[in-house]
Amino acid sequence: MDQRIAPNQAAHRYCSPESALDVRTRDRLGQADVVWLAGSAAQATQQPDLSCVIAGVRLRNPFVLASGILGNDAALLERCGEAGAGAVTSKSCGPTPRRGHPNPTVLDWGPGLLNAVGLPNPGARAQAEMLRSARVRLQPLGSVLVASIFADTVANFAEVAGIICEAGPDLLELNISCPNVAHEFGQPFAASATDAAAVTEAVKRVATCPVIVKLAPNVPDIGQIARAVEAGGADAICAVNTMPGMAIDVFSGRPILANRSGGISGPPLKAIAVRAVYEITAAVDLPVIGTGGVTCGLDAAEMIMAGATAVGLGTAVYYRGTEVFGQVEAELREFMVGQGYRNLAEMRGIAHE
Ligand code: FUM
Repeated sequence: MDQRIAPNQAAHRYCSPESALDVRTRDRLGQADVVWLAGSAAQATQQPDLSCVIAGVRLRNPFVLASGILGNDAALLERCGEAGAGAVTSKSCGPTPRRGHPNPTVLDWGPGLLNAVGLPNPGARAQAEMLRSARVRLQPLGSVLVASIFADTVANFAEVAGIICEAGPDLLELNISCPNVAHEFGQPFAASATDAAAVTEAVKRVATCPVIVKLAPNVPDIGQIARAVEAGGADAICAVNTMPGMAIDVFSGRPILANRSGGISGPPLKAIAVRAVYEITAAVDLPVIGTGGVTCGLDAAEMIMAGATAVGLGTAVYYRGTEVFGQVEAELREFMVGQGYRNLAEMRGIAHE
């Protein structure tokens, strides 16, 4: 702990010359600001423990593949496990097969991504088959399987949960916050404390594994929604889903995505997500998977200092490939060594102090 440096110096001091930091991160810090640690000083220090526990399930490291990214196929989930993910989340599935929205569904608008994929999925029964295969592939890798589900009604949520739990995932994620299907399903359950609690309660009655509830960033009081799902029996929270946004092609005067609006992800979402995690962990005692705009080890440290137990990676996979899991782990480890943190618990929530 003695070697820890003041927070206002922190961004400058955690890299070694051989650092796994990517070019984007180096550019963001600015070469002039980086004071390289002597490699031997970092290596001489004992390696920090990066494991964490979500609702009784141990993760070898805090990095969780977010739902919607490479999560519709067992081999792709396996690839993320091989790349070092502590846990992987499947694409959300509903009661029956859905095609999703027509193209264009994803736009790289520069600072981040905008997507409105429209929850395409093969339906709960076919998804359960995929999850069985994923579970077998992930087990020897030591990677935890999170199955994500959605539905249009409380009763359907419970039905899908029952089917998906038969596949034996380690954790079940309730996606009550997709911003891209309101014209079909109405406002997301995550927009109302009462609705969010009702879904959580109904699923908890049938679920055979711990339940994570995924919240939306665009609510007036996310702490209130968190308290509602905690009262409904949630075992953990994932915060946050994407933030609604829109991009217009000024030459045609039309919205670019076929769905017109979509969800913003990537770096522009990070400050929103960090604040949401901070508010939630001030309001409830549940473990939180902090998700939104994390692209490097420093971002992960920030999320954990806000109170997150684990850290979701989604758009970062688009920027850095599946190798991102090993890279952010190395970056976080290096930061912790430089700052003298021995485990995640020593960093967790310190921004609240
Ligand atoms: O459009 C989509 O499939 C996005 C889903 C989500 O953000 O939950």
